[in-house]
This record gives sequence, structure tokens and C-alpha cells, in this order.
Amino acid sequence: MEKQDMSRIRVSVITVSDRGAKGEREDISGKVIIEIAQSLGWEVAEFALVADDKELLKKELIRMADELASSIIFTTGGTGLAPRDFTPEATKEVIDKEVPGMSEVMRMESLKKTPHAMISRAVCGIRGSTLIVNLPGSPKAVRECLEAIQPALPHALELLQGKVGDCGNIE
Ligand code: MTE
Repeated sequence: MEKQDMSRIRVSVITVSDRGAKGEREDISGKVIIEIAQSLGWEVAEFALVADDKELLKKELIRMADELASSIIFTTGGTGLAPRDFTPEATKEVIDKEVPGMSEVMRMESLKKTPHAMISRAVCGIRGSTLIVNLPGSPKAVRECLEAIQPALPHALELLQGKVGDCGNIE
């Protein structure tokens, strides 16, 4: 497989939380994503803390994809069943194509850890050449879900950026 320059992967992170946006809760999950991204050698382009508001979140996703040219946007939180959980809806409204396999794997692997995994409605998809990945809100869930999808991310980004035409020569 062609070696990928990992430093050219630009990651943006959005923590979606009403309480976090009001400063009532420390945002640990966003920091966990940033730590993991940096440990993988990825550049962290930007971080934002957004309330559980569908329109605000859509605006931020569009800005990070189109203006910042993020390779990946990770969101954390707002994927469950609470009345103000809108992250999957906002994501679906801004993506061009869904990548269901990634959310399926996150739920499948997470179910091995907790039955509550089935409550997350997290969505993954692409907007232009940006991959958007919803992660649940807890730091533990963030670690478990990132671990599940991480092996496929470099190749997914290569395909998305048009760097490889097919998977024929990939082991
Ligand atoms: N997935 C993993 N891997 N580990 C977890 O601890 N927690 C679940 C689930 N997914 C969890 C998980 C719980 S308790 C909820 S309510 C849903 O994610 C939705 O979380 P969110 O609303 O914070 O996004």
C-alpha cells in the first residue's frame, strides 16, 4: 500500500453538548479525540464546542468541511434518544453519501462492551472530500469507537482524496 503522509490528515473536532456549550460541564471527550488524533500523527485543524442545536451544528460541519478542508470531522455527543439529540439528523442533512459500514462496526464492537451501544444512532458519511464521523458522547465510548474504525481510516481517506483508484493492491 502506498505510504500515506499522516501529517497531511487534518482533523476537526466538534463536541455537541448543551451543558458543555454553557460551560456547565468539562469537555473530556473532545480532548480524548484530539489526543488520539495527535498520537496517530494527524494535524488537529480546529475544535469547537456547539450546543445541541441542529442548525448550528450543520453550519459548523459545513464550515469545517468546505472552508477548513478537514480530512475528517469527528463529532462527539448528541447521538442518543434524548429530546435534544440531533447530531445524526444534522449530519445526514450535510453529507453527500452515507458510509454505513463505519457506524455498523462502531455499534458492533461497542455492543461487546455495553448493551447501551444500540442506543447510539451515530452516522458516518462524506461531504466533498471530508469524512464526517459521529461518535457517542462519553470519553469511554469515544475511545472504543475510534479503536474500532481506526484501521480503515487511512485507506478511506486515500479513496476519498482520489489517491488510489481501487483496492486491488491493498493487503
Ligand atoms: N458506545 C461505546 N462504545 N461505549 C459506551 O459506553 N455508551 C452508549 C452509546 N454508545 C457507549 C456507546 C450510551 S450510554 C448512549 S446513551 C449512546 O451511546 C448515545 O450517547 P450520546 O447521546 O452521548 O451520543
